[in-house]
Amino acid sequence: MNILIITGSPRNGGNTDIMAEAFAQGAKESGNQVVIKNAGNLNVAPCKACEYCFAHNGECVQKDDMTQILAEVDKADMIVFASPVYWFGMSAQIKLVIDRLYARAAKGFHPTQTALLLNAMSKGVFEAAITQYKYTNNYLKWTDRGIITISGMNEKGSMKDAPELSSVTELGRSIR
Ligand SMILES: Cc1cc2nc3c(=O)[nH]c(=O)nc-3n(C[C@H](O)[C@H](O)[C@H](O)COP(=O)(O)O)c2cc1C
Repeated sequence: MNILIITGSPRNGGNTDIMAEAFAQGAKESGNQVVIKNAGNLNVAPCKACEYCFAHNGECVQKDDMTQILAEVDKADMIVFASPVYWFGMSAQIKLVIDRLYARAAKGFHPTQTALLLNAMSKGVFEAAITQYKYTNNYLKWTDRGIITISGMNEKGSMKDAPELSSVTELGRSIR
């Protein structure tokens, strides 16, 4: 299947990117096509709540890097959200992208499956992000294929030594 991984860290090559790559590696091994879009590097403005998309078959009035993300959303069977925890939630960078998905709520989504990859310094900080993800899945009737949280990410690259990283690759591999 076509998998779109949306990552939410501005720190290139950091823990979120390593997590996303691990998932992508497993998913590719199982024959999936994988595209990664990093909201941390892209220029995505906040949703204006102008409702233009609802009057124009899902076209967003704002022409920024969300255009290329929406083009991938339209091809994807599955979206994987990968984010660092920032203040007990997903990062602002990925939240901007999630808000702009409103343009597809206007005409319907192609993807029907999702997964969530989170990492943070501390334990017990994932609940808000997971709750938001679950409510969104429920609302859009998306099927959750897995949620993985990894703590102890004190430094850039801590993820390389995380024993749980293999479970991220395994989750990717389980997607067919
Ligand atoms: C703005 C900011 C807010 C953060 N908030 C939290 C937090 O609430 N809880 C936590 O455990 N870690 C927090 N962290 C740590 C990151 O989640 C952690 O270092 C993560 O691995 C960073 O991922 P990256 O390397 O992909 O950028 C925060 C980091 C930043 C920069």
